[in-house]
Amino acid sequence: MKTPKLLFLAGLIALAGCQLKGSDEQKIEKADENKNEVVQAIMERRSIRKYKDKPVEKEKLDLVATCGINAPSGMNKQPWEIRIVDSKAYIDGITDIFKEANPKVQEDPNFKNMFRNAPCVIFIGTPANGGSEFDCGLAAENMMLAAYSLGLGTCCLGGPIRFMNDNDKAKSYLEKLKFSDDYKLLYAIAIGYPDETPDAKPRDSNKVMFIYD
Ligand SMILES: Cc1cc2nc3c(=O)[nH]c(=O)nc-3n(C[C@H](O)[C@H](O)[C@H](O)COP(=O)(O)O)c2cc1C
Repeated sequence: MKTPKLLFLAGLIALAGCQLKGSDEQKIEKADENKNEVVQAIMERRSIRKYKDKPVEKEKLDLVATCGINAPSGMNKQPWEIRIVDSKAYIDGITDIFKEANPKVQEDPNFKNMFRNAPCVIFIGTPANGGSEFDCGLAAENMMLAAYSLGLGTCCLGGPIRFMNDNDKAKSYLEKLKFSDDYKLLYAIAIGYPDETPDAKPRDSNKVMFIYD
């Protein structure tokens, strides 16, 4: 049983811990205390850049994509096309082109592929004339949260997409995604079983303000 002295000491340590933390981290913990599963998934999801060498079940990938297309969209236009690439040949093939253009990436001993080493990648296309990026972003978060709830890790990726859109040699891989003619590749989501548990990055709570008058 804890003596009052020990309790006092524990209180002091807890207080010191609180003071060491920034207000953002405190806010994350506060929301974490809420046992609502959706809130917990939102607070616990992290970008994963290290994956287990374990295939992802097709049913899970399918469910993740289904959650994506159930996101809201302006006038229910559903301005997205989703391509799930579960192919080592595809991922390694485009990565070879990436490595040729960026030889330095191979200096990282953990580098496996250009999609943060994930075994699968979800590519999202949107109408090339623009204006639907917001809808696609909502679909992305749906997919990442659904994946998290299924024990999968994800990482939203913009960098590799710029490469795929700009590099001539990558064109054939872009074509393999079979987006409609009037669509362009917007972003990708790396997905697989996570092999790391990164800490939350700090969030700036000053971005939120209540207005009462
Ligand atoms: C639009 C977008 C593009 C991103 N592009 C990349 C990327 O190219 N490479 C990468 O490692 N992470 C990328 N990220 C992940 C962010 O770095 C990450 O979400 C952010 O640091 C916050 O960390 P968290 O997701 O763990 O909360 C991207 C995220 C978004 C939303």
